[in-house]
Parts: sequence; C-alpha cells; structure tokens
Amino acid sequence: EVEPLLAGKTITITAGPTREALDPVRYISNHSSGKMGYALAEAALALGAKVNLISGPVTIKAPANALLTNIESAEQLLTASMELAAQSDAFIGCAAVADYRAAAIHEQKMKKQGDELTLTLVKNPDVIANVAALSENRPYTVGFAAETQDVASYAQGKLKNKNLDMICANDVSKEGLGFNSDHNALTLFWHNEQLDLAMGSKKDLAMSVMTELAKRL
Ligand code: C5P
Repeated sequence: EVEPLLAGKTITITAGPTREALDPVRYISNHSSGKMGYALAEAALALGAKVNLISGPVTIKAPANALLTNIESAEQLLTASMELAAQSDAFIGCAAVADYRAAAIHEQKMKKQGDELTLTLVKNPDVIANVAALSENRPYTVGFAAETQDVASYAQGKLKNKNLDMICANDVSKEGLGFNSDHNALTLFWHNEQLDLAMGSKKDLAMSVMTELAKRL
C-alpha cells in the first residue's frame, strides 16, 4: 500500500528521443529508450497524480492511466510541453531532445550525390528552459542531466542556467547504467541541497525521485 503523496497534483513528464526529419524517409535521433520517463510516469500514477506523458517514438508501452501525447520533433515537443506545463504542478523533462535539426526538411527523398554530403543543422529550442521561464503558471521544474564526467558541476550548471528547481544527474559512462538499461544511479541536486540515490532499477529510482518531488510541491 502506497500513500497517495501526489493526490490532486498534475505532473507532466517528457520521455524518449526526438526525431528530426531530413527528408520524408530519413531522420536524426538518439538511443533514448524512454524507460526512465515511463518509470517516472508509473511512479507518479502510483502516488495518485494525474499524469501527462509527452513521448517521442519508443517501443515500450505507456502506462494505461497516463494521458499520452505522441510527438516526434523537438518543436512538437515544445508546443505540447508549453500547453501542458502551464496546467501542471510539476514538469519533468526526461526526454533526450536532439540539440539540432535540419535547417530545411527536403520535400522529396534526397538523392545520392558525390562522396561527401554536408548537412546544415540549426539549434533546437531548449524545451525545459522555456517551461522554467514561464511567468504565469510556472510548474516546479525538474530536469535530467546525463554526463560522462564532472557530473556534479555540469548538473549544477544546468540547474542554474536553465532556472530549474531540481535536476537528476546520472553518469552515463558507467557500464550497464543509463541509456537503454533497466538500471540507473542518480544524484538529485537542488540549489542548496543534494541527495545520492544508490544504483537500482529505474522503477525504484523513479519512486524515490517522485517521493522527493512530492515533499516539495
Ligand atoms: O543540456 P542538456 O541537454 O544536457 O540538458 C538536459 C535537460 O534539458 C533534460 O531535462 C532535457 O530533457 C532538457 N532539454 C530540453 N530541450 C533541449 C535540450 C535538453 O528540454 N533542447
């Protein structure tokens, strides 16, 4: 029996990769599985929250009781996030957003050319920074940071620069943790506090993250 620590709260969670089209058949993306974001959605539901799950293309099944919005590109993620974040008590950005997209999407399938092909990419919007910058109805904003070195300092930098309330950092250089794995280890940072969560299943870690979040809403 779990205490409904999030009863009456609405939590919006982004999960999975974004997919940035190059032409009608090709795209740029990454290996995000969506597992951490989906585990967070499950945990929030178990604690009694109403959950909006905004998801990029993944192969895992969404929790039945979450309100699912499927997106592909970072720009679609931004539109969905801004709408749902303003109706939420907390926003958790767990999606692996592509940093860049094609400057122009070719209308027709690109043809093979010479030995080299140059793509022009432009920067995507920072979704979570836009949410955290809301002047009205700003939700408690939680980010994720996947780092391969200096985890604490990079994570604290992102907490500050993006104006987040909390960030969950993981060291993705450790074998078997992070991307695509069922396991992870997280350190949570606030502006004046930090908490190490020992290695565990994404399911158990998600419950710990949600419990810490619930204390602060
Ligand atoms: O800067 P970095 O990508 O490492 O920051 C990770 C955090 O920022 C995650 O919470 C991720 O969902 C979010 N992010 C975003 N929009 C981007 C890039 C990252 O919301 N364009």
